[in-house]
Amino acid sequence: MFKRILIASGPTLESIDPVRFLSNRSSGLTGFHLADQARERGLGPVTFVTGPTSFLPQGVDLVQVESAQEMRAAMNAVAAQADVIVMAAAVSDYRSLKYYPEKLKKSGERIVLELVKNPDILLELGRRKRPGQLLVGFAAETEDIFANAQRKLEAKRLDLLVLNEVSADNPAFGDVQNQVYLVRPDGVRRLERMGKAGVAAAVWDEIASLAGRAG
Ligand code: C5P
Repeated sequence: MFKRILIASGPTLESIDPVRFLSNRSSGLTGFHLADQARERGLGPVTFVTGPTSFLPQGVDLVQVESAQEMRAAMNAVAAQADVIVMAAAVSDYRSLKYYPEKLKKSGERIVLELVKNPDILLELGRRKRPGQLLVGFAAETEDIFANAQRKLEAKRLDLLVLNEVSADNPAFGDVQNQVYLVRPDGVRRLERMGKAGVAAAVWDEIASLAGRAG
């Protein structure tokens, strides 16, 4: 069905010194199921670019990265050949301005670590989007979730945004279940809270319907 499916998954890990890093609680489970089901459904060859995770799918072209900058390079190497790109990775928004080659010494009661913004990989992919290419993003929001989702959809030129409502009842990150909304330029659909394999299946159903509409 597709010539090349490109999926980004997992957290990114931003090194501070040889033993310390910044990261987040993404498990990579949703991305794993997305890749696994693409293979199972025979949707096309999958390139799976992932940050550090224990969930590694079989039967895909696997590219393991650590930082956002490495993930960006890996995505850019394949994006032009992909007709569907799913950016399910939880990219660290910031990294340490400086990499300290020697382990930072314990010193005063307070230290200041200066952070610098990482590139927005999905925004860049949106800017270079080809006609017919489907671009899918994820978002985790805690307030004004639909307004923020619509803004993101437009800014990043997405065909579909999988919106996690992050709350005490639905942590989303690190949980095995998730409650999401499928946000498209033409409307929003709420899915029941379900296992992440179920979320992945619903996302592929939605992508198949978008691909059918595109031609
Ligand atoms: O703007 P926000 O971070 O909420 O957007 C989330 C979406 O953008 C996700 O699909 C995520 O993978 C992607 N993203 C990215 N590069 C970043 C931050 C987020 O590709 N630096």
